[in-house]
Amino acid sequence: MSLNLNLIAAACDGMGIGVKGTLPWKLKSEMAFFTSMTSNTKHPDKRNVVLMGRRTWECIPKKYRPLQNRINIVLSSQFLDYGKDAIVCKNIPHALEIIGKPPLKDQIENIWVIGGSSVYK
Ligand SMILES: NC(=O)c1ccc[n+]([C@@H]2O[C@H](COP(=O)([O-])OP(=O)(O)OC[C@H]3O[C@@H](n4cnc5c(N)ncnc54)[C@H](OP(=O)(O)O)[C@@H]3O)[C@@H](O)[C@H]2O)c1
Repeated sequence: MSLNLNLIAAACDGMGIGVKGTLPWKLKSEMAFFTSMTSNTKHPDKRNVVLMGRRTWECIPKKYRPLQNRINIVLSSQFLDYGKDAIVCKNIPHALEIIGKPPLKDQIENIWVIGGSSVYK
């Protein structure tokens, strides 16, 4: 079974995506678009993965963490434990390994890379 790997980013003119560790803007419609794109699945029993760097995870306000109705995976070289909120992976191959084997394998429809800049690169 193959999974779709997608990337989503919001950028301003000049391709800026963040400032001082957070988003440069507060745009409800942009956030709603992000939520819809990363949450929606064709199959009602499946969910999407949101794959992000540790700093992006930390810049999500606590009340919105984990991102609802999505499997949150955080990349970090540190030994971090976010409990049931997020799976911490030590690199991208590690994340793909976890995603590609049970129990996650059969629960996932899409993978969305949601930043930040180091993960996009
Ligand atoms: N506009 C947008 O669409 C958008 C989307 C997301 C984020 N952002 C913005 O982007 C900025 C954050 O970006 P950033 O580049 O500073 O941080 P980031 O990519 O979110 O996180 C960087 C951290 O993630 C971990 N990491 C990243 N790649 C890894 C890899 N391949 N293997 C292991 N660990 C890895 C490392 O954590 P450790 O240090 O723990 O090892 C690294 O220090 C913020 O300003 C945020 O608001 C914008």
